[in-house]
Amino acid sequence: MRVVFLGPPGAGKGTQAARLTSKRGIPHISTGEILRTAIQRQTPTGLEAQGYMDKGEFVPFEIVLRLVRDRLQEADAAEGWLLDGFPRNLEQGSAFEQLLAEMGQSLDHAIFFDVADEEVVRRLGGRRVCETCGDTFHLEFSPPPVEGTCGKGDCRIIQRSDDSEEAIRNRLRVYSEETDPLVEHYRSSGSLQTIDASGAIEGIESEVDRICGSGP
Ligand code: AP5
Repeated sequence: MRVVFLGPPGAGKGTQAARLTSKRGIPHISTGEILRTAIQRQTPTGLEAQGYMDKGEFVPFEIVLRLVRDRLQEADAAEGWLLDGFPRNLEQGSAFEQLLAEMGQSLDHAIFFDVADEEVVRRLGGRRVCETCGDTFHLEFSPPPVEGTCGKGDCRIIQRSDDSEEAIRNRLRVYSEETDPLVEHYRSSGSLQTIDASGAIEGIESEVDRICGSGP
């Protein structure tokens, strides 16, 4: 199964991607997560990306495309993948189509998580992540099992640097300028499936399962 998750920051794409990929045994390829790992490791890519991400701006196209191209060619992605955070604008969308054609692959589902800005702000304001394993929590809606840790070992729960109020506002602005036109492109081509992502995590998970079916 090859699937793309689209939607505003904080819509719950990462939360649902983790659930779906663990059931299907396919890799969850999150460009944001790959970039955050590069920042943590202080690689040249990470050092270049950090300033953009902290402000909620897009990381340059060439960097992101190279990361996705390399990741899709890894062995564990041969039978399927879930892309979360890419493509993110029309330029990336057309490079993605070209990349799929080169690889002789096609997309099974493009799923759009539809949620209002006020809910995004509520979700991102309360989001906390495990610095070690990347597990995501919410102080109110899905708190960590043990306060301050994800319970899996010696780790620390932190707030993402782009979850500041200013960065959230900027990410929403960038989303509406850059990603809305891509969503419209998928919608008008008839390949977009939209989920009302404003409800509870379990209800949204059932909707994702219904769209993706029970196949491999
Ligand atoms: P990225 O990491 O992709 O961030 P994003 O798209 O802004 O999405 P988020 O991770 O913030 O939200 P999400 O939808 O995954 O929500 P989550 O499940 O965590 O990108 C970060 C940055 O990297 C970008 O700003 C950019 O700089 C760079 N970047 C990445 N890709 C790029 C690209 N292609 N091109 C250029 N730059 C790129 O949920 C949010 C919170 O809500 C959590 O606390 C969760 O527990 C809670 N929650 C989830 N679902 C529910 C629910 N149903 N009810 C209540 N709470 C919920």
